[in-house]
Formats: sequence, C-alpha cells, structure tokens
Amino acid sequence: MTYNILEKYEMVPTVHLMKIQAPDVAKATKASQFIILRIDETGERIPLTIADFDVVEGSVTIIFQEMGKTTKYLAKLTTDDTLQDFVGPLGCPSEIEKLGTIVLVGGGVGVAPIYPQAKAYRKAGNKVISIIGARSKNLLILEDEMRTQSDEVYITTDDGSKGHHGFVTDIVQNLLEGDEVINRIVAIGPPVMMRAVAGVVEPFDVETLVSLNPIMVDGTGMCGGCRVSIGGETKFACVDGPEFDARKVDFNLMMSRLGLYRSEESEAVEHYESECKSKTGCGDECTCH
Ligand code: NAD
Ligand code: FES
Repeated sequence: MTYNILEKYEMVPTVHLMKIQAPDVAKATKASQFIILRIDETGERIPLTIADFDVVEGSVTIIFQEMGKTTKYLAKLTTDDTLQDFVGPLGCPSEIEKLGTIVLVGGGVGVAPIYPQAKAYRKAGNKVISIIGARSKNLLILEDEMRTQSDEVYITTDDGSKGHHGFVTDIVQNLLEGDEVINRIVAIGPPVMMRAVAGVVEPFDVETLVSLNPIMVDGTGMCGGCRVSIGGETKFACVDGPEFDARKVDFNLMMSRLGLYRSEESEAVEHYESECKSKTGCGDECTCH
C-alpha cells in the first residue's frame, strides 16, 4: 500500500505543508499524536507531529521544515508522488479537558503541532490564549488558523518585524504576572524555547506541558532512540510521551542526544545534494534540492 499526497506547498521559506490520504490514521488521531513516514522502501523513518486531520476527507496534514536529507527530499515531492509508509497515530494523545484558561505557546514550526491542541481545548470549552513566535514575520505560520481557534492571539518576532519584538517567553512571563488565572500552559517549539518556558514558569504554580521530539527510529518503545529523562526517570517519548511536565524534563540531556548524529546528518545532506546536482546536470547553480 502507498499513500497519496493530496496537497503540498511551501508555506514560508523551507517550511512545507503536505496533506496525505490516510483515512485510518485520520479516524484514530487525537491532538499531540505523531506519525512516522518513509518516502520509499530504502528511506529513513522520520517522525512528524500531526498538524491537522480530517476524518470526512480521510486526510492527515503534516508540516515540516527542510533540515536533513529526508526532509529536503520530502520537500521536492508533489501531488504526483506517493509515500511508501505512513504509520500512526503514535504516542499518547493530550489529556484534553475543560480546565478554564489554557495558554498555548508555539515557536517557529512548533506552531504546527499547537494548532490541533487549540482546536481540541477550544472544543472542550476552554478559553484559549495563543502565543505564536517566529524569527521574522515571513517565517510565521498558521496565524489565521490560530486566530480562528483562539480567544486571544499574541504574535512575537525575534527581529520585531511583527507583533512583540522578542521571544514568546516574554509574553508567557507577562501573562503569568497578570491577573488572569491560567490553568495550563502547553509549549511546543525548539528545545531551547521549551527549556526557556520551563524556566519562566518555575516560580509559578501552573501546570506546564511540553511536547518532545527526540531522535526516533521505530516509534513503538523498542529501540530506545527516543530515551529522555523526566524527573530522573528514563522515559521513551514515543510511547510515554510526547507530552511531559516541562519542569521535570532534562533538556540538556535531550539536546545533547539530539546532536549525536549531527556529523552523519551533514554528510548525508552533502551526499544527497551532490548526487542531485550530478543527476540534474545543473551543477553549482542547482537550487532544486
Ligand atoms: P526558531 O529557532 O525560529 O524559534 C522559534 C521561536 O522560539 C522564536 O521566535 C522564539 O520566540 C522562541 N525561542 C527560540 N529560542 C528561544 C530562547 N532561547 N528563549 C526563548 N524563546 C526562544 O524555531 P524553528 O527554526 O522553527 O525551529 C523549529 C524547532 O522546533 C526545531 O528544532 C524542531 O525540531 C522543533 N519542533 C518541535 C516539535 C515538537 O513536536 N516538539 C514540532 C515541530 C518542530
Ligand atoms: Fe524507539 Fe521510541 S523511537 S523507543
């Protein structure tokens, strides 16, 4: 069985949206779950958090950033292509309930997995305050979609080109120091951002969850690749997570494990790009990878 690509476009530079026909996955998906895909039978398995799903259409949407060889290759596929494997939903769904006021924090591509959470918390009757940040306004994704699912939206950019000039954590701090009672914070984005959110919430008594995306291989708890340390205990993000209590996560360990294969990843990208250039014959001017 292969999986059809129903839609594919570049949302902002190097960040792509891909909608896949996968009715069984769509039917079973809940917020915070992820899939593992393989482009072809020799391909690398990559985990991606589900950004949206439509049970009626039978589709699942993923949003990914070109980073390594596989995501660069994935970015080149079109609606004429198919995927070999699309396994999911994997991981534990978020425990969505009516709590009151929920603050959702999405940084960069991390806004994609925050979107289904906004929908689910809103549907459960919560007030949703969203904070979405990017390095610059041209890298901001899903602003309109987040507005439709949030009671309030704060935008931040590192360079001040839109919204608050600064990091998402500045707004988290302001809200925590304000009068409104916050019942839960969920933060998803680069590990440094999630670690910074954990630091900001430390003095406050507010439940804070982060969604971790360490290196994964099988996604079923068998390989140990996604090992993380939570409150001193070893957990596997693929089966025990991906959501964990922000204050218990050993971010430094997670970040050092994420860097374990950096040189192999760069080598694979270099090899892929030089192969691409020689195949297309466009030499050093090649932009198709
Ligand atoms: P980025 O580096 O552009 O950062 C996005 C935002 O995060 C910034 O605009 C800022 O507001 C905040 N931020 C960054 N560093 C910060 C710091 N030191 N302190 C406080 N706030 C900070 O993000 P990007 O390039 O889009 O990176 C995407 C990252 O998100 C990748 O590392 C990817 O692996 C990760 N990601 C995680 C998930 C997940 O499920 N956990 C999903 C998608 C992407
Ligand atoms: Fe293998 Fe989690 S990905 S144990």
